[in-house]
Amino acid sequence: MDRDLARRLAAAYGTPLYVYDLDVVRARCRALRAAIAYRPFQPLYAVKANPCPAVVRTIIDEGFGIDAVSPGEVRLALRLGLSPARVLYTENSMSDAEQAEALAAGVLITAGSLDRLERLAAAGAQAVAVRFNPDVGAGAHPKICTAGPLTKFGIPQAELPRVLEISRRRGLRVVGAHMHIGSGFLESAAFAAACRVIFALARQLPDLAFVDCGGGLGIPYRPGEEPMDLAAFGAQLSADAEAFSAAYGQRIELRLEPGRFLVAEAGTLLTTVTSVKRTPWGRTFVGCDTGFNHLVRVAMYDAYHRIENLSRPEAEPAAVDIVGNICESGDVFARERLLPMPEVGDLLAIRDAGAYGFAMASHYNLRPLPAEVVIDGGQPRLARPRQTLDELLAGWRW
Ligand SMILES: Cc1ncc(COP(=O)(O)O)c(C=O)c1O
Repeated sequence: MDRDLARRLAAAYGTPLYVYDLDVVRARCRALRAAIAYRPFQPLYAVKANPCPAVVRTIIDEGFGIDAVSPGEVRLALRLGLSPARVLYTENSMSDAEQAEALAAGVLITAGSLDRLERLAAAGAQAVAVRFNPDVGAGAHPKICTAGPLTKFGIPQAELPRVLEISRRRGLRVVGAHMHIGSGFLESAAFAAACRVIFALARQLPDLAFVDCGGGLGIPYRPGEEPMDLAAFGAQLSADAEAFSAAYGQRIELRLEPGRFLVAEAGTLLTTVTSVKRTPWGRTFVGCDTGFNHLVRVAMYDAYHRIENLSRPEAEPAAVDIVGNICESGDVFARERLLPMPEVGDLLAIRDAGAYGFAMASHYNLRPLPAEVVIDGGQPRLARPRQTLDELLAGWRW
């Protein structure tokens, strides 16, 4: 999104404002598909990254299914017209009520624990996928590493015999072998190692229809970071899947379920500078009309987001701390960031905010959720109006 369009959108819809460019989303979907030569290949979208219906619809139209992790995400996928067969529910700490709802909807569940396998069988499920913990984790931060001994996710690979025993005893077919080892990797060595584990486990599952290698593909947030070598990633995965199918004696569907890779770079959070404070200790704080309530990634994961001053790109650069309007000292988007010196009223663009941005937003400090706009073929349209304070307060019984 260029500067003029951003300024027009901020003027029309106000700030803070999330903007998603659907053409970028489409391009990422196509790049991923093109990188995987193996067939059959069924990519899913991990909708938790950005559940905005216009974004999800765009990805579904590119032939993706949905990886859901809650009843709400299943409901969203079905409401967009996706058949239950194209939705996978990857559970963790699922309740029996949630299980019943998913089974009634006809959605396949990926069980992440042995007790869930037993409970699925007890509820009459005939087929299931199993999320394994392949002991190899990856990810841009420990909080988004989802495999290895410290994580709650998946059934440890050493417990495969127990999975087989439950499956035989209960007549529960394990039709999918699943892993998701972490989020935001740019380099695929750990992913490749985990794939070797999951394919080796899958060899021992007699009723297999698919192997799902999860998501986690990163994007270059920081200056100087290189994008993933998607061609090499796809070639390695396709070769592994070919070798697996040959050994298994049947062509098994390969799945991936990226979230961030498809949507992060499509999104920008526009915010207005509300305060510029120079302290006697030599720091300059640039305050904005948003905060970690709308984009928590920096506070939560020490993430980096590029930030641009759209109002005065020619101004003399200065090292500033860009902070939000939330009453917490951790409400910081960037420390000592070199930026054309902002003034009150300037429009800033926080880039690469399309994944885990609005999706993780809260109304902390009783600040309403921002609006969302999508740009489709260069044409903007409102996807979600800004929440009003009245709407926020109406959640309580007064
Ligand atoms: C089960 C599962 N699949 C896929 C993803 C998507 O990860 P990413 O957005 O890094 O591709 C996640 C993210 O947490 C996940 O938990």
